[in-house]
Amino acid sequence: MHTEHAASDEAEVILDVDEATTAKIVGKLETIRGLIDAGDTNAAMTLCDEVLTSPNLPVNAGVKLGLLIQEIGQTDIADVLFETTYAKIKAVIHRLENPERALLPAAEALADLGYFDEAEILCRKAIAKAPDNLTVAVGYTAFLVYRERQADALKVAEDYLDQAQSAFEGAIHFAMIFNHLAVPDAARHCLKKAEKACKTKTQKAKLEFFLASDGMAKTELDQHGMAVELFDQFAKDYDKQLEKLENNGPSMIFTALEDLQLPKKKSRRVLDAGCGTGLCAGFLRPYAKELHGVDLSVKMLEIAREKGGYDFLARTDLSQIVTYPEGKFDMIVCADVLDYFGALNTVLANLNQILTPGGWLLVTVEHESDTSIPRGYKLYPSGRHKHSDDYMVKTLAGAGFPKPKLLKHARLRNEFGLPILGTLIAVQKPALMFG
Ligand SMILES: C[S@@+](CC[C@H](N)C(=O)[O-])C[C@H]1O[C@@H](n2cnc3c(N)ncnc32)[C@H](O)[C@@H]1O
Repeated sequence: MHTEHAASDEAEVILDVDEATTAKIVGKLETIRGLIDAGDTNAAMTLCDEVLTSPNLPVNAGVKLGLLIQEIGQTDIADVLFETTYAKIKAVIHRLENPERALLPAAEALADLGYFDEAEILCRKAIAKAPDNLTVAVGYTAFLVYRERQADALKVAEDYLDQAQSAFEGAIHFAMIFNHLAVPDAARHCLKKAEKACKTKTQKAKLEFFLASDGMAKTELDQHGMAVELFDQFAKDYDKQLEKLENNGPSMIFTALEDLQLPKKKSRRVLDAGCGTGLCAGFLRPYAKELHGVDLSVKMLEIAREKGGYDFLARTDLSQIVTYPEGKFDMIVCADVLDYFGALNTVLANLNQILTPGGWLLVTVEHESDTSIPRGYKLYPSGRHKHSDDYMVKTLAGAGFPKPKLLKHARLRNEFGLPILGTLIAVQKPALMFG
């Protein structure tokens, strides 16, 4: 845990805690948000009390908690929290040094408290100390957008990009941030910078992916190039990062298997399609005589191999049937993979082709709730697609599957602190085929 200490003995200001604790606190704040939205203020307040008494509550999370408590109507408690937090920050403000772990969280807390000028001084100090720190640059940018100073925000991003080690990666990152902050002009500007800095084939694939996202349509996606680049880079930190995002994809498949009450007999050939680092292997094992994992990213496969959860691992492109392992499978799972594809006709037809009659297919996708989108799926600045329920049911039918036995929604993971809603679909290929 990192703390910056106040001048006086007792006033220790917690500005930053370890990632796992932060993730837990953020998760609880989200749950409180959900409870307030659902009108369950009693349960929301009980959880607020729990967070309030956590030993390592950083000041920025404390202020966010105060805002939720205020919304519940407990303004006295919120006011005390705001006052004490402000006093604590003021007591140490001139001593704060660490750009990312002290100045930035303190600035965030001050901005949430409405002390914008003081917050900006801290942001400026942070960026002056660490002009090459992406988190600091993004934090300051977000602050300026919030203050509706889009031009200043773009300037901060540009200054960062001018000295960044990888101007390409930085520009793509800022394009995503600006899209997320609903500043499309700045996002386009950053994508132009990325275009200029684009050198390698894989960078081109990544760029095209983003150019095709959300109104920036230009080219056909290179799904293959994008997935290889993204996951090869990501492989080493994948499990840690996904834990931070409170990844729920594998759990959604696990819960569906429990709900379906499929007998746990080790008689099936099971395929984990897009197995990644092997997060599903453990709970698939009791269903499998042979457990196969396939993926496009060699680096992800290497991690899965190190963990030793599968009987067979192979490099496969799910959109290319010739690259699949030999033979048929009795169960196929596809956790958090199909969001990397737009149209799913080919992949689902391929999966149907290798599934035995009576076999099960379980997939997750990101849920698209806008039923008016023309194709039934849409690419988002995250680089992933969301698919509507209607699209999934129709495309499964087109690929030869009957109506799903299960179709449920649940939180798939978090992104930028917000939950991403997922859809779990379980479908059984008919056991008897006539004609
Ligand atoms: C978000 S990860 C999910 C991994 C794993 N199923 C899990 O739940 O942890 C998505 C995986 O899909 C793989 N992938 C993306 N496109 C693919 C394709 N065309 N063929 C095979 N795998 C692909 C990626 O390499 C990556 O490992």
